[in-house]
Order: sequence, then structure tokens, then C-alpha cells
Amino acid sequence: MSAPQPLVVTHPLAQIHLTAMRRKETPPGQFRWHLHRLAEILFTVASRGLETAEVTIQTPLAETEGQTFARPIVLVPILRAGLGLSDAIHALVPEAVVAHIGIARCEETAQPRPYYAKLPVVLYEADVFVLDPMLATGGSASFTLRQLKNAGAERLTFISVVSSPQGLEALHETHPDVPVVTAAIDEGLNENFYIVPGLGDAGDRCFGT
Ligand code: PRP
Ligand code: URA
Repeated sequence: MSAPQPLVVTHPLAQIHLTAMRRKETPPGQFRWHLHRLAEILFTVASRGLETAEVTIQTPLAETEGQTFARPIVLVPILRAGLGLSDAIHALVPEAVVAHIGIARCEETAQPRPYYAKLPVVLYEADVFVLDPMLATGGSASFTLRQLKNAGAERLTFISVVSSPQGLEALHETHPDVPVVTAAIDEGLNENFYIVPGLGDAGDRCFGT
């Protein structure tokens, strides 16, 4: 199965929040606030095709039909920066299960170095959203998707804020079945594997380190 082209969310609200995040003078508190607002928009777009099931409910006046999610939803933030996305999305879908994957890129080679994983048992039947603000070389995302597939996940979507063309290509090669939703495709990577123009180190900017 082949994924469609990455879906770039060009909605003006998304781009206004992204612009605020890119500004180097934006402090961590405001950076997180804009990231949370952007996460809500990205997840709203990324979840547009989620299957629902009909349920019969009782309003104060009468019985009627409503909708519930057809499958469990699992959010998978890649630590640390993915937490900025999952916090806001979890507030939108409080019934979602949150799985955590810890990966630190090697500063010299940009190779992913996994250090933590806590996955739920419902993966095989769930709609799984992998969350990381930055898709740079694609190493962290590819590794995470492989780990989730090995654990049984079948319906996966990757959500990022800023993507590089190299990261998108790497992800398409390794996981062509996984759709990507992002707010921007930037020019490329610099010699330290950072996205340019990007927004810097997303984890540091979120948490003030
Ligand atoms: C950053 C970012 C992604 C990864 C992207 O995390 O949040 O997880 O790099 O780069 P890649 O596409 O080349 O793998 P980092 O490893 O710096 O950890 P942090 O979130 O703890 O700062
Ligand atoms: N990780 C980040 O936080 N920023 C980049 O530009 C690349 C990787």
C-alpha cells in the first residue's frame, strides 16, 4: 500500500501558530501554547477519516442516535518534544491511550538512540497517531514506526509540525503505508542535521533547556 503525498495543513490559523513558533524570541511558555493550538488543528485534520460507530443515547428529551469512535485511539509522542503535541491532543480525545517512545538523536551522526518504550496491548486494533514536531532525517520516526508495527500496530498516521524533504523521503521509503500530516515542508537540513529554516531544537524550546 502506498501513502498519499504528505498532507500540508495550510489553514491560516495553523500557519500563524507555526510562524510564532519559528520566531527565535518566542519564549518556552508561548512556544508551548502555540504548539498546543497547532496540535489541535493538525489532529483535527489527521483524524478526519477516523471510523465511527453508531450509538443510541438518551438526551434529556428523547432517545437519539450518536457517534462513538469505532476503535481505540493511541497517541505515541516521541520524547521529549512529542509531549508538546500529545498534551493538547489528549485533551481533545481524553479516551485515547498514550504510549511513550524515548529516542535521542546522536548529535554527531543523527542516528536514533532509543532509551524508553511503554506500549499498550491494544495496538493491533487501534488507530495510532505518532507525534513529533520535527521530521528531520526521518531516523526517529522510521525507528518508532517499525517498533510499533513489530508490536502489532496496523493503522498508523504520523503528525509533525515541520518536515524536511529528506525526512519525508526516508519515511516514504521505509513506511510507504503511513500517511503524514504536517504544517510545513522546509528547505532541507544543515550540516548538523537541523531543519532549515525550521524552528531550532523543538525539545529545548518546549522545555527551556
Ligand atoms: C528531535 C526531534 C525528533 C528528532 C528528529 O529529538 O524531536 O524526535 O530530533 O530528528 P530525526 O528526524 O533526524 O530523527 P531529539 O533526539 O533532539 O530529542 P529531544 O526531543 O529530547 O530534544
Ligand atoms: N530536531 C529538532 O528539534 N530540530 C531540528 O531541526 C532537527 C531535529
